[in-house]
Amino acid sequence: MKIGIDKIGFYAPHLYVDMNNLAKARDVEPAKFTIGIGQEKMAIAPLTQDAVTLAANAAMEILDDSDRAAVDFVIFGTETGVDHSKAAGVYVHHLLNLQPHTRTVEVKQACFGATAGIQMAKGHIALNPDSKVLVLASDIARYGLRTGGEATQGAGAVAMIISKDPKILALEEPSSYLTEDVMDFWRPVYSEYAQVDGKLSNEMYLSFFEKIWNAYKQKTGLGIGDFAAICYHLPYTKMGLKALRTIYDQGTETDKDRLLENLEYSKIYNKHVGNIYTGSLYLSFLSLLEHQSNLNAGDRIGLFSYGSGAVGEFFTGLLQPDYQVHLNTKQHQDLLASRKEVSVEEYEQIFEAKLPKDGTDFELDVDADPAKIKLSGVGGHIRHYMNSSQVKV
Ligand code: HMG
Repeated sequence: MKIGIDKIGFYAPHLYVDMNNLAKARDVEPAKFTIGIGQEKMAIAPLTQDAVTLAANAAMEILDDSDRAAVDFVIFGTETGVDHSKAAGVYVHHLLNLQPHTRTVEVKQACFGATAGIQMAKGHIALNPDSKVLVLASDIARYGLRTGGEATQGAGAVAMIISKDPKILALEEPSSYLTEDVMDFWRPVYSEYAQVDGKLSNEMYLSFFEKIWNAYKQKTGLGIGDFAAICYHLPYTKMGLKALRTIYDQGTETDKDRLLENLEYSKIYNKHVGNIYTGSLYLSFLSLLEHQSNLNAGDRIGLFSYGSGAVGEFFTGLLQPDYQVHLNTKQHQDLLASRKEVSVEEYEQIFEAKLPKDGTDFELDVDADPAKIKLSGVGGHIRHYMNSSQVKV
């Protein structure tokens, strides 16, 4: 039985800051951000968007009535959850009117969470072939104003339906993975901001890629000639190039050119959104599919997932016939094109705005956010969400 990605949706908040302007404000050469880091725009989440609403907006785009009836497992990968106890997916389950006999959990391991979700979903479908799993990858990356990591922030979510007979990508069986206890990036429970050793995090990413790729090759006998494209977790888009460079001489010149060309397509959305942590790999996969028209059914795509701390995995899938028909390319391009640019000063104000932490009632200006699903306020330590779409909740 084929199991894999049947549908894939994406959402980013409606505000962004231009990286050239951020560079100037931080007294940095703009080329450092646009070429050295490889980012052009950074998505900014207003208070009306959190990990729950970003995920719900991404999922709303792909769910139809038959999915709502068949999904019986919601797996929410995030490292910016809104509650230490309640799974963010429970709010999404309600906001999207999913059938009640559903198992819903949150999964955390930095940017690896959604990959764990996909592998769990695969096992669930193998045991329950007629069910579907909704895997959500949603995060807001925050390092703090004027920090070393500031240029690699971002916000957004990817939602995927995992099912049998998938319309987009059939996952293959072998994969290789690795865990090592490393302090390259983490966020203590008392902190709003990530702690990071930037240089070490880059080194660990590359060291994980090398070890996992070698283990994968040993396990399968496959090499870079067997891949149409390899998508990477992209904390910033230059990172993908750094990883690909370590292996692109293992095949022919044609292999190298093909993988480099497809890497360019797989970076386009990420360049305009920034790091969305656990969704970044899947945004890159979506970017490849929605920009490269020369891929064919049966082409093998490699996916490298890295979550600091650290856990990594390399796994693969085969593109399915007519996968293009099942993408929402125009909707995603319109979403990004219709965003509003904010100045660096406005970005700083939005960044510093906070919800009360003492349970006081607080209403948000929902009219300023064009999203269908948003946080409308808090009261008595409870978050209040609204869905202004037609979906009955
Ligand atoms: P930095 O120290 O500001 O930058 O930090 P740099 O000095 O290393 O420069 C960056 C690049 O710009 C260099 O290129 C420079 O040469 C180049 P490279 O040598 O790396 O190829 N450069 C220029 N290029 C053109 N024109 C110029 C110019 N000037 C310099 N004028 C760093 C960069 C990424 C470390 C920082 O932003 C950071 O700490 N970010 C957060 C951590 C991060 O993203 N790590 C990535 C790997 S870990 C990961 O992926 C997991 C993560 O997503 C978290 C999770 O799992 O949840 C982060």
